[in-house]
Amino acid sequence: MKNYILITGASSGIGYEMALQLAEKGYHLIIVARRVEKLKRMQRELTTAYGIDVHYFGKDLSDTKQAIDLYHEIQMQGFIVTHLVNNAGFGAYGQFVDTSLEEELKMIQLNISSLVILTKLFAQDMIKRNEGRIMNVASLLSFIPFPYYSIYSASKSFVLSFTETIAAELAGTGVIVTALCPGTVETPFHTSAMRRTNAMFANKPMLAATVAKSGIQLLLHGKGKKIVGFNNWFISNLPRITPDKIMMKIKKHLASERI
Ligand SMILES: NC(=O)c1ccc[n+]([C@@H]2O[C@H](COP(=O)([O-])OP(=O)(O)OC[C@H]3O[C@@H](n4cnc5c(N)ncnc54)[C@H](OP(=O)(O)O)[C@@H]3O)[C@@H](O)[C@H]2O)c1
Repeated sequence: MKNYILITGASSGIGYEMALQLAEKGYHLIIVARRVEKLKRMQRELTTAYGIDVHYFGKDLSDTKQAIDLYHEIQMQGFIVTHLVNNAGFGAYGQFVDTSLEEELKMIQLNISSLVILTKLFAQDMIKRNEGRIMNVASLLSFIPFPYYSIYSASKSFVLSFTETIAAELAGTGVIVTALCPGTVETPFHTSAMRRTNAMFANKPMLAATVAKSGIQLLLHGKGKKIVGFNNWFISNLPRITPDKIMMKIKKHLASERI
């Protein structure tokens, strides 16, 4: 039986780049996202180029039932997931009172609920094997929640605190749980409204390939959390030395539309 790295949200951005770079290193992959055509193409290209095994599952993980189904389908096919990357996620931008509640509830299901489901189910198997690695993709906003990104920021704060607590609980079991915390990354994640904010001009977006490389290092060899890039590390520490009132003013300015 073969060992696999499972990546959710592998059809685009950071997840896609991680899949490419892990394939180059010879790892077998299970890739998950909604756009099956993209996954199918990736399967064809990566198996041809690198001679690895790639299996894909078209799932909408904003529906928690599909997250549970994903686990059971992988079990039934006898694939062993040694590494899990909970990367799929999306954000929304706007005044909380005006944004779509339906979209926000989906965001909570995807960014939080399905991540918890997959972590729990795969961690249980990993503990039985006395080894495994889980990497959850959090964000710089896990440390500095931004106005106009209320639910997204809160979801990523959840991801970081959840990851840190279970990493401590699982210490000694052979299962290592880590959190990747990117700043702004150039991917289709950003809507046109997000792209007009001051933050997009103040902090140059990093390349998805650079963030993926950092993520792979953390996934394969690291521990704890990793904030990608020195600038982002510095920004993540600003709340420690800046009064709340000033910090919120800075964040509101950064999250506002550039005029
Ligand atoms: N870009 C940034 O600036 C940034 C910064 C910090 C953290 N992050 C985090 O990094 C992660 C990856 O984001 P990205 O920037 O690479 O964005 P992206 O290019 O938009 O990729 C998101 C991935 O998630 C998948 N996805 C979205 N909704 C899904 C759903 N309902 N069910 C299953 N898969 C779904 C998408 O595939 P389908 O559309 O095919 O389903 C896609 O593969 C996210 O968790 C994001 O919050 C991003």
